[in-house]
Amino acid sequence: MKTLHVELGDRRYPIYIGSGLLDQPDWLRPHIPSRQVLVVSNTTVAPLYLKRTLATLGGLRCEAVILPDGEQYKTLAVLDEVFTALLQHRFDRNCTIIALGGGVVGDMAGFAAACYQRGVHFIQIPTTLLAQVDSSVGGKTAVNHPLGKNMIGAFYQPRCVLADTDTLATLPDRELSAGLAEVIKYGLIRDLPFLEWLEANLDALLAREGSALSEAIERSCRNKAEIVAADERETGERALLNLGHTFGHAIETGTGYGTWLHGEAVALGMVLAAELSARLGWLSEKQVERIRTLLDRARLPLAPPPDLSADDFLRLMAVDKKVKDGQLRLILPRGLGQSIIADDVDPILLRKTLEARS
Ligand code: NAD
Ligand code: GLY
Repeated sequence: MKTLHVELGDRRYPIYIGSGLLDQPDWLRPHIPSRQVLVVSNTTVAPLYLKRTLATLGGLRCEAVILPDGEQYKTLAVLDEVFTALLQHRFDRNCTIIALGGGVVGDMAGFAAACYQRGVHFIQIPTTLLAQVDSSVGGKTAVNHPLGKNMIGAFYQPRCVLADTDTLATLPDRELSAGLAEVIKYGLIRDLPFLEWLEANLDALLAREGSALSEAIERSCRNKAEIVAADERETGERALLNLGHTFGHAIETGTGYGTWLHGEAVALGMVLAAELSARLGWLSEKQVERIRTLLDRARLPLAPPPDLSADDFLRLMAVDKKVKDGQLRLILPRGLGQSIIADDVDPILLRKTLEARS
């Protein structure tokens, strides 16, 4: 079992990573200050893990709300089901909301916790690789809007994150690969030794070897916790975590939420960012190929959706939370294991990069 902390002063919280944690009340219970607990899950995860979670919470007044499964349900309308459950059960402002599921459940439950009675206690139990390495840590919560991904949300930190690595055993292969995209992201933005470790250990990760998975989760969470502690509200360095995301969000919005997995869209976005960096002289063609090879080995897509033109990309990319005064800002690799926030990218080079792929 590994414990890391997100150092946010009096809102400091632990990330527990290990096998079998879901069944051990000692980790979870000290972080629940209330008797009323609402577990938010979905139709796929609840049949697998809800009963065990409720058993671990035995003695508390637990209720559950089960949402439909899928990115297309990450909406304000579906979120209302959580508020209805909280009100029907007469939960007060001291209650605790627990997210049991992947990033969609985590983002929605977190946003509900931020809003209900102006903020109630919140805990993350992430069950996908993507959620264990990224979305459960750092307090970003949101729902989508038809016009833009994650456009309605709040920063709201959990009281703890409990990542039981055993839950990954039931994860479909495609979802494991999507999680690996965010793992590779940390190597690309700030951690060359981790990138090299991933190149050496990718086969073990794809084979779901426990020690490789827990090392990848720990190293990813360590990177994320450091960044979040330094820049909780993304006034600077935290934006680096969005490598590939401006391109990726355009793909997710443009193809209809749920068609491309978030991690798949981010993977292709990282390839496009690397190709743009190469045009700017910041990466060699050999380095770009190294990035493509690693993502390809992780079974992630390297080609954009055929029906998304360069114009579509540019239109969709303009709806991005990093846009400032109408100016697009992109995260771009500058050498391997380093990246920068670029707010003056030559639009001609950006268009050429997109046209070369559409
Ligand atoms: P997801 O939540 O849709 O989960 C993927 C699929 O796996 C779903 O069908 C889910 O039901 C299923 N699943 C979950 N756990 C399982 C398990 N243990 N066994 C079998 N099936 C399981 O997707 P995701 O990739 O976890 O998260 C993507 C979402 O996270 C996106 O909405 C993205 O915007 C968001 N995100 C948020 C942040 C953040 O910082 N808040 C960071 C990255 C991504
Ligand atoms: N996934 C981006 C962030 O947490 O900032």
